[in-house]
Amino acid sequence: MVINPDQRIISPAAGAEDTEIEGSLRPRRLSEYIGQKKVRETIDIFIKAARERGETLDHVLLFGPPGLGKTTLANIIANEMGVNIRVTSGPAIERPGDLAAILTNLVAGDVLFIDEVHRLSRPVEEILYPAMEDSAIDIIIGKGPGARSIRLELPRFTIIGATTRAGMITSPLRDRFGVISRLDYYGVEDLVSIITRAAAILNVGIDREGAVEIGKRARGTPRVANRLLKRVRDYAQVRHGGLIDHNVAVEALEFFEVDPLGLDEIDRRILRIIVEKFGGGPVGLDTVAAAVGEEADTVEDVYEPYLMQRGLLARTPRGRVATPVSYRHLGIDCEDKKAGEQGTLSLE
Ligand code: ADE
Repeated sequence: MVINPDQRIISPAAGAEDTEIEGSLRPRRLSEYIGQKKVRETIDIFIKAARERGETLDHVLLFGPPGLGKTTLANIIANEMGVNIRVTSGPAIERPGDLAAILTNLVAGDVLFIDEVHRLSRPVEEILYPAMEDSAIDIIIGKGPGARSIRLELPRFTIIGATTRAGMITSPLRDRFGVISRLDYYGVEDLVSIITRAAAILNVGIDREGAVEIGKRARGTPRVANRLLKRVRDYAQVRHGGLIDHNVAVEALEFFEVDPLGLDEIDRRILRIIVEKFGGGPVGLDTVAAAVGEEADTVEDVYEPYLMQRGLLARTPRGRVATPVSYRHLGIDCEDKKAGEQGTLSLE
């Protein structure tokens, strides 16, 4: 069965329900923002300095895996600066004229948040260079030999770019950001604080051990933590009268098939196939993908990063390899690996 990877309970991508729920849970002030200490301190200094000088904030690039709060931070920055935020994304801006229209409508000091900024087309990106550097855009009037360029001055504004792929930002664009900050996966303690805060806002009864159990399985990602909290809340309400403690959280998360490392059924299937069918690897990506019935790109972009981050899977020049951590996690003895190589193990 192929499921849409964005619909997995532990997907870091935002779904419709997340956008709704994140609206109420999203911190509005920097002081409410939990974790990412270095980023928070950098932005704090930067905002205070700009405010004291009465200047517009310089352009900011935020990068890091999905679900870690890049949009939240952009909103906080605008809020702390007391300015409006306009939100768009790289793929949404199709033509240079679209971007010119957005830019010419900005008011002095405004923040323009561009999500997936690495996906801007080259012609659109080129409009952005003078806009970021000189607060101006160059508009070409007419065609052919008679064409001429006129410069349109814009009010000063701040671009906040966000990307999951820092390596895909062109260097002329990257060079125009004054501050570049990287968001990292959250530790369990920060996730526990985020879950506890969210539970208070949503009026959910949870004790520390319940929050720890959800935090451990949230893959370092607040969006996943908040989604798991919601599902566990439903389970606790229907089966246990509401309160989420350790036992209820474990039972609920087992029910939703999210294991102690935050892996779901597909993650485990990928590992089991490598271990049981291919003797632990190395095995090519296409072969793994065909065996699990997914696209190779999906396996590579959606499933593998977390498995590699947890040290369960290694990419080698000869293919994918399951690590000893992976064997331990699946409860398979490394001795069984030899049996697997002789073809005596079968898949369920
Ligand atoms: N909700 C999601 N991310 C958060 C964060 N970093 N701090 C507080 N609440 C959050």
